[in-house]
Amino acid sequence: MSLTLTLATVLKKPVKNSYHVVLVDDNSQTMGQLTSELQTAVSRLIEASRFKGKLADTAISYGTDNNTGLLLVGVGSQDKLNGGSLQKIAKAIYASLSSLTKSAVISLGDSMDEVSFGQLALALLNQSYTFDIYKSQKADKPTLKDVTLLVSADNQPAFDTLLQLQHATAQGQSLTKDLANQPPNVCFPAYLAEQAQSLANQYPELLTVKVLGEKDMQQLGMNCFLAVARGSAHEAKLVLLEYNGKAAKKDKNSKTKGKKSSLEQPIVLVGKGITFDSGGISLKPGLGMGEMKYDMGGAAAVMGMIKALCEARLPLQVVGALACAENMPSGTATRPGDIVTAMNGKTVEILNTDAEGRLVLCDTLVYVQRYQPKVIIDMATLTGACIVALGYVRSGLYSNNEDVIFELEQASESAYDRVWHMPLDDDYQEQLKSNMADMQNIGGMPAGSVTAACFLSKFVEDIPWAHLDIAGTAWQSGKEPTATGRPVPLLMHYLYRQAAQDAV
Ligand code: BES
Ligand code: MN
Ligand code: ZN
Repeated sequence: MSLTLTLATVLKKPVKNSYHVVLVDDNSQTMGQLTSELQTAVSRLIEASRFKGKLADTAISYGTDNNTGLLLVGVGSQDKLNGGSLQKIAKAIYASLSSLTKSAVISLGDSMDEVSFGQLALALLNQSYTFDIYKSQKADKPTLKDVTLLVSADNQPAFDTLLQLQHATAQGQSLTKDLANQPPNVCFPAYLAEQAQSLANQYPELLTVKVLGEKDMQQLGMNCFLAVARGSAHEAKLVLLEYNGKAAKKDKNSKTKGKKSSLEQPIVLVGKGITFDSGGISLKPGLGMGEMKYDMGGAAAVMGMIKALCEARLPLQVVGALACAENMPSGTATRPGDIVTAMNGKTVEILNTDAEGRLVLCDTLVYVQRYQPKVIIDMATLTGACIVALGYVRSGLYSNNEDVIFELEQASESAYDRVWHMPLDDDYQEQLKSNMADMQNIGGMPAGSVTAACFLSKFVEDIPWAHLDIAGTAWQSGKEPTATGRPVPLLMHYLYRQAAQDAV
């Protein structure tokens, strides 16, 4: 991590070799407590620069030493402060200081509640992400390394815990982004399996990895999954990462001593890992097809989650399942009209080979039920229709369980990694009826994101399950496409609360 955040309550000595950051609202009110000396300097700078405190506006005065100075950042109206404005504020701070100084101090006092503090911290940590391994001309290395957040003594203990969680989250997100940004000639299923293995090597006491190849899938009858990979030169892989954050505890009062796989009712995270989605025989149009390297964003998020869990060492048992395949056209590729049998015995008529995500996911959902999960959460860049419905702001949330819906909605707002609850009514299943098989893999134009989720629901038996359609949120599309690392913040908040619930 190139940026480290630390908490402090009072400054032991005057700020040396550091920029002081002061947040100012549109009434020229400063946030946090300031020493009278600093308050004077702030008032002077506000006047000299005609500073209005507009959101993300900045004013700077350079100190006499190279590394010192004062930065004002506008926050707009204090009661309108939310996750979005905090992200803009973080961006403004980083842009102003990243190549100016090694360290900075931000006065917050008790001007922020826990939720806002967490959002600001994560936004700051995420500023330093870059992906330039394929550029000959690298951007200059940022100088900013340490940021101290000055908070009130009352808030310090709670904020400290949250800050640790956000450091872990940012590290997970950074891995998610790195994997997703990799080009599809580098990142294919075996690459993701290798990355999982190297993650397990970094945390041997917490992680076990298992990789199923196409032979294993044949034996298990995962023919929907296999159908997607048939046109590709790359072998499909189902990667399982088992995180046992209770391992240390368990060995002491060991009921399960000596048993190798000791996960009891884990939380299972499933990610769509299509390393390139050409559409297959139902070939996609060429424009923007390069962005379909991000079709493994779900799997990348699951791997990032596992890394974040290892960093945060949450006392939970979690399985990450990465459903990895490449969707390509060829003479051996699946044809529209092919009928295959899924692992649970259901037959599927594949009428569009571009609706491949649900095919790798349905067999994976059946497979992971052998862990007897407490809950399954899958995440997938599943449908363009979800972008039509929710744009690039909220991920689609589908679930068969009211509690899971509530908990994910809560976590998503606190993490500012937002979701919107979408319907799963039985009536939609009509659209998936096939003339030839138990179901077909497409449901036509209307409610395309819903029918995709309905398809998945047919493969989950009486287990709390949620599906996140992250087609619009996993990466930023357009002129400068880049991975966002979503929904790692949402799920880390969710798992953090699950761990807290388990503890009582
Ligand atoms: N990976 C795509 C969905 C997608 C498209 C995500 C654009 C993000 C941006 C998925 O595999 C797909 O192709 N879905 C089809 C489904 C259709 C054939 C029923 C789609 O959305 O068009
Ligand atoms: Mn597709
Ligand atoms: Zn896809």
